[in-house]
Amino acid sequence: MGNPLFERKPLSLLLEEMKGENRLRRVLGPVTLTSLGVGAIIGTGIFVLTGVGAHDKAGPGLILSFVVAGIACVFAALCYAEFASMVPVAGSAYTYAYATMGELFAWIIGWDLVLEYAVGSSTVAHGWSAHFRDLLGSFGIHIPQSLSTAPFDYNPVAGSFFATGSYFDVAAIAITAIITAILVYGIRESARFNTGMVIVKLAIVLFVIVVGSFYIDPQNWHPFAPFGYTGISFFGHTLVGQTGIGNVPLGVLAGAAVIFFAYIGFDSVSTHAEEARLPRRDVPIAIITSLIICTVLYIAVSAVLTGMIRYDRINIDAPVSDAFAQKGLPWAQRLIDVGAITGITSVLLVMMLSQPRILLAMARDGLVPSKFFGAVHERFRTPYKATMLTGLFVATMSAFLPLRILAELTNIGTLLAFVIVCTAVLIMRRTHPEAERPFRAPFVPFVPIMGILSCLLLMFSLPEENWWRLIIWLLLGFVIYFSYGRRHSVLSRMRQKAQIH
Ligand code: ALA
Repeated sequence: MGNPLFERKPLSLLLEEMKGENRLRRVLGPVTLTSLGVGAIIGTGIFVLTGVGAHDKAGPGLILSFVVAGIACVFAALCYAEFASMVPVAGSAYTYAYATMGELFAWIIGWDLVLEYAVGSSTVAHGWSAHFRDLLGSFGIHIPQSLSTAPFDYNPVAGSFFATGSYFDVAAIAITAIITAILVYGIRESARFNTGMVIVKLAIVLFVIVVGSFYIDPQNWHPFAPFGYTGISFFGHTLVGQTGIGNVPLGVLAGAAVIFFAYIGFDSVSTHAEEARLPRRDVPIAIITSLIICTVLYIAVSAVLTGMIRYDRINIDAPVSDAFAQKGLPWAQRLIDVGAITGITSVLLVMMLSQPRILLAMARDGLVPSKFFGAVHERFRTPYKATMLTGLFVATMSAFLPLRILAELTNIGTLLAFVIVCTAVLIMRRTHPEAERPFRAPFVPFVPIMGILSCLLLMFSLPEENWWRLIIWLLLGFVIYFSYGRRHSVLSRMRQKAQIH
């Protein structure tokens, strides 16, 4: 008998479980799923983080940063699509890891996905609050400073924390509470609400590309890569490229590691597999289509932004809308602010939709308490308790922790999830070559291996402290697994029963 820590959940059991009673509603078609993907992707990354990316990390080379991060995501997306077509149950990377690498790895990835979805949602709620305050400010309405942001922040230049003079971020709490209520109410309503917001934000992004292109001065693209084309460090030691204050890596790759955040979300489509009408066909289509749409738009927006404004004059808080203000178009600035708020709201909606579904999958396996996390509302058919707990967590994190820390933690956690999914595809092809794969990632093993390498490269382009935060988070996960999950795991209880008989 093998080590129970690495016991794998049989593929046949996964597929059998899908037929059970306690299922979610199958109501989502290919367009709605793609729209959920785009809804999860375009948000804080493009509207906020492009500022730091261009100004501090890559200059106009940010265009290439988007290409690099986009390519890394395409490799990962092809692997996600293969798995999603093969095992179309809620749970995403967590479920894939359970089937291929065993329980301990599944737990690690499930725990890691909290960084992507719940901590990611907190980051996004922060971005929402910042744009909301800006918009109110443009109408002369001001939220008191004491209620406007997290109580402390990190100054990368001084390398220390400082007090902001605020108690908490009231707007972040309010938007999180509203989204939680919508999500408890129902998936169909949530998806409809999302589609409306996606249309608005796509229109605004196209507006930025078309109108902004009239204000491009090609001179602004020179020098193209003022910080170089690389920026890779290993635990604080620069391997290739320039470094900034505090030894942080600079350059196109370092920029890619930051704006990678803008792409997070395409994978969330895989968490809705259980609610898809034809998951085997539509989930892979939606994952890949939403990623391609956003990659093209991002490259265009970054080209327009860096062409409109010299990189060192790009605003860090609201770079896109501020570019239009700098060109003397205040009405466009306000329009983009509204688009950003709408766009960021839909990201929040989809990310907060995904987290409870992963917890639900973990609860079914007994790795987290199933009475609580596995409870599906009788009338709404939504995992309402897990949704409310997610809401509480997101509201607390976004109210009290600074954006910078939350964003980087989300990136490193998500990149690790991508590495594991690409590895899992390689393993599954070996262990289950016969399994039905309605969608097959092309050029295996090249695609998964490139996915692993490119995501690791981006992880090493993030500042060192993120590695430590990731390690601490994973250690905390081990403590929970060994004190709860291991003993309550359905698979291990099944094994014990089989041994007794
Ligand atoms: N990609 C999402 C955003 O940029 C997380 O907000």
